[in-house]
Amino acid sequence: MQNHIFPIPLVLVFSLGVCAQNYTEHVKPILQSSCLPCHQKGGIGNINLSTYESTSAYGAMIEEVVATKYMPPWSIDRSHINYENDRRLSTAEIDVIRDWCANGMVKGQESNATSQVLKYPLTGGRISIPVSHNFKHYGVWMEQYQNFILDLDNKESLHINALEFIPGNSKIVRAASFYLDQDRSSTDSLDQWDPREGYTDFDGPGILEKHQLIANWEPDMGLITSSSNSVWTFGPHSRLIAHVVYAPSSKQRLDNSLLHLHIAEKKSQHIILGRKLIADDNKINKEDKIAWNEMKTVIAIDTLQEDIMLRSIYPRQKLFTRSIELFVKNPQEGKTTLLLHIEDYNPHWNQEYILETPLWIPAGSTIHATYKIDNSLENPLNPFNKATELEFGSGMFRETLLIEATIISKTDKT
Ligand code: HEC
Repeated sequence: MQNHIFPIPLVLVFSLGVCAQNYTEHVKPILQSSCLPCHQKGGIGNINLSTYESTSAYGAMIEEVVATKYMPPWSIDRSHINYENDRRLSTAEIDVIRDWCANGMVKGQESNATSQVLKYPLTGGRISIPVSHNFKHYGVWMEQYQNFILDLDNKESLHINALEFIPGNSKIVRAASFYLDQDRSSTDSLDQWDPREGYTDFDGPGILEKHQLIANWEPDMGLITSSSNSVWTFGPHSRLIAHVVYAPSSKQRLDNSLLHLHIAEKKSQHIILGRKLIADDNKINKEDKIAWNEMKTVIAIDTLQEDIMLRSIYPRQKLFTRSIELFVKNPQEGKTTLLLHIEDYNPHWNQEYILETPLWIPAGSTIHATYKIDNSLENPLNPFNKATELEFGSGMFRETLLIEATIISKTDKT
């Protein structure tokens, strides 16, 4: 890269020569906002980056993971859409870290600057709901999913503008999703079937047809806020399902997680709804086999029956998916928009993509999904070590095509 295309402040910094970057002034702020949410004592990241000493001890490793973009974890998307929750570092930030590492990791003057101010001023009340009660997860090599049932006991509709999930054990709580349960009888029977708290499921988020996605939480999210002028609405006596993803762990650990719901002050016009982006499950996830060593391209197309305002996309694939491409065709305008394109999909970092600007998609538009599913040894995540046929379709152990979305409805339906 040539100097003239660097942003100007960086050119100045570089021109100061050796030791231009120091920890306190330049590196720490980047770590604070982009790494510490996961990398502090008790956090999900296995190293602690909260002090100069611990950070400099890992200098070479940090340089490597930021240069290769392995950290912060974010599947590289090629759609050129801006995402509100994009956690990637900018090129300038990466250069600051590399330069600091290359030049002796200078500490700099300690400052008394206070730490970050809370970004979201919340004014309404809040309701706190325990999610898990000393839940004992299995200490095993693979991820585990447990669904906890949260009965809200609310007499009137609740309008919520933020969810705040407090993981009980940040070592193992890797992700969580919240669903509104409109079919209590099926969750009751699942709950009875599993003798432990809540119920386990092996099928990604294990969503039943009638569960409506509310929101997703990842370890670096403080609050999950709604977009301006929109709220989540839960009718009287609502039940939420908290789907918690526990990271692999060599040790069995306990978890006591908590959820706060922040009440919106005034009723807003828009409510946030969740659903599957490609809806016809019978057509798309019909049973099929993928031969050993086969790389199969699965294509699904669905026509939107109503207008939507798309807020977020959440692909939920399993171990065999290698790439995802998702686009929308608007027949009225003859326009195609790429929504998401991940060449190198990593199901261990399944994540939500929240659009910076919600996208208006009129009824009659078609959503197109192309997935490459790889049952060969080329796939580093293929758990089979001998010729094994892979099953495709919906169900626990099958590779399934599932894209969840949240949309903002135009009118308040309550
Ligand atoms: C969303 C949570 C999250 C964020 C944000 C994050 N990390 Fe990580 N990091 C992890 C986890 C979890 C691991 C453990 C390896 C894995 O599971 O992939 C890890 C591993 C690492 C490792 C390698 C340690 C090893 O075991 O080899 C380094 C170094 C690292 N992170 C540095 C960083 C830096 C620097 C940043 C910020 C620029 C950052 N991480 C941001 C979650 C995160």
